[in-house]
Amino acid sequence: MLEKIKTLIAEVELFSAKNLDELEEFRIRFLSKKGEVTQLFSEFRNVIPEQKKEFGQLLNDLKTKTQDRVNKLKEDLKNNEQSSSDLDLSLTADSQQQGSRHPITLVRNEIIDIFTRLGFTVSEGPEIEDDWHVFSALNFPPEHPARDMQDTFFIEKDPDILLRTHTSSVQVRVMEGQKPPIRTISPGRVFRNEAISARSHCIFHQIEGLYIDKDVSFADLKQTLLYFAKEFYGKDSKIRLRPSYFPFTEPSAEMDVSCSLCGGKGCNVCKYTGWLEVLGCGMIDPNVLESSGIDSSVYSGFAFGMGIERTTMLKHGIKDIRLFFKNDVRFFEQFQ
Ligand code: DAH
Repeated sequence: MLEKIKTLIAEVELFSAKNLDELEEFRIRFLSKKGEVTQLFSEFRNVIPEQKKEFGQLLNDLKTKTQDRVNKLKEDLKNNEQSSSDLDLSLTADSQQQGSRHPITLVRNEIIDIFTRLGFTVSEGPEIEDDWHVFSALNFPPEHPARDMQDTFFIEKDPDILLRTHTSSVQVRVMEGQKPPIRTISPGRVFRNEAISARSHCIFHQIEGLYIDKDVSFADLKQTLLYFAKEFYGKDSKIRLRPSYFPFTEPSAEMDVSCSLCGGKGCNVCKYTGWLEVLGCGMIDPNVLESSGIDSSVYSGFAFGMGIERTTMLKHGIKDIRLFFKNDVRFFEQFQ
């Protein structure tokens, strides 16, 4: 009899239930009115007196162990059931937050796309430059105000090493390194010693265009820019060229495009004129061709340059250039 109780205790300790039904079966087998434990209690009076004490102790042990085991397993099964019901495998996964390209990159790529369709290549040059490539080779007179400390960040003086103030310096590098015909655009960062405000920054981006061949005329420049304006600002865009001055082009002009935000009717972005000033351009001055080793009696060409921040602001009606440098994702997300 004592052996039987000991075997039952071992069985209780090892028992586990897969579900509540199995556990209930186990409980009935041990603890119900006709169960093992109750039956053993009724055997108590037949146990010989010397064994009564041990029998009683073992039997109580069996009873409490069985009850504890049932309670513990019931608890475990309930917890499992709850955690598996919290987990709904058919739910769709959380969507991942997607990054977006910087608006300056998007607009730069769009401009590059437009000009590569016309057969332009893309060329780049260094941001740290010498006086020759930024000023002298581009026909800037020695006393020109753009060379002034107020505009240019100088790194070294005599010989002058500086941060380029415009991407026109890449024109010079291309002309020095390639023979015409040349058709290239040069995107890049430029630097000017200016106070940061809503309208200007000391670091910004430009795209430079350069076209050199035999018999290139002002009409070629105008058609190229009109094509760009229609592709970039919309097919109904008009352009106008106003006379201007740059040391490296003759004649020089500034191009306006009809305001794409109000369709030329007048709004606060175009200051109620219907026109936006978008770029500088002109026929390359023969002096510039000659100083880069290109025969100006055989070749002619045009050049143009525009600011990418400014172009992006005009296209999207953005009022503050500093937004491009603040890295606020709420701003960037609008340019997917
Ligand atoms: N480099 C000029 C600037 O930074 C822009 C420019 C004007 C570039 C006329 C040109 C050009 O190539 O022909 O303001």
